Amino acid sequence: MSKLELKGVSFKYPRGKRMIFQNVSETFESGKLTTIEGESGVGKSTLLALLSGLALPTKGGLFMDGEPVRDLTEYRRNIAATVAQGNHLFEGRTVLENVMYPMLLKGEDPAAAKKKAAEYLSDVKLDEELLTHFPSECSGGEQKRVAFARAMALNNPVILADEPTANLDKGTSRAVADILCSLAHDHGKLVIVVTHDMFLPERADVRLYLRGGVLEHE
Ligand SMILES: Nc1ncnc2c1ncn2[C@@H]1O[C@H](COP(=O)(O)OP(=O)(O)O)[C@@H](O)[C@H]1O
Ligand SMILES: [Mg+2]
Repeated sequence: MSKLELKGVSFKYPRGKRMIFQNVSETFESGKLTTIEGESGVGKSTLLALLSGLALPTKGGLFMDGEPVRDLTEYRRNIAATVAQGNHLFEGRTVLENVMYPMLLKGEDPAAAKKKAAEYLSDVKLDEELLTHFPSECSGGEQKRVAFARAMALNNPVILADEPTANLDKGTSRAVADILCSLAHDHGKLVIVVTHDMFLPERADVRLYLRGGVLEHE
């Protein structure tokens, strides 16, 4: 079992006036889906950026299985995979090529990467005829599925997502919630999701709130 820990984390943007977090400590476990809720501007995306290895805490640290995370490039390549709010898919590549990309980056043989990419896209229930389409030819919900398949292709133990159901209809939001639950419960991933969705937190194993710079358990 893996665990990811925030220990005494405080954070202030270099050009920011206020501390966004004050002494936050929390442990996240593999096989569990954790949701983090909170009002707009409270610091949810900032917290996810710290957990994604995109920024270092001003004070305190991030620990994976008890070891301090120091090399953020290595952390992003081998530990954490993030689905950004805007998906950040490569527009010049097809859906299949988008999902193959992390595997090719890790030195996987192209034929094997292609086969696995198709499997990941099938796991997220993307229509097979979209594999040769470009992201701009897919709906918001389809793009979100592709973004999750690409995150899965990194084969990292931690999966993070920022507001993955924002701007999606109810049915598609439910499908994204199914993907998140499956990642945690069937694939044993450590899944952390920032959300202000009304329904997604009901499916979570651990439900947290970010309020006034502090993480609270419900
Ligand atoms: N690069 C930055 N520099 C300074 N302040 C920032 C920066 N990015 C975000 N902020 C501020 O940090 C606070 C938290 O932002 P954010 O994490 O995006 O909130 P949330 O995702 O909960 O809506 C906001 O007050 C925002 O204005
Ligand atoms: Mg945000």
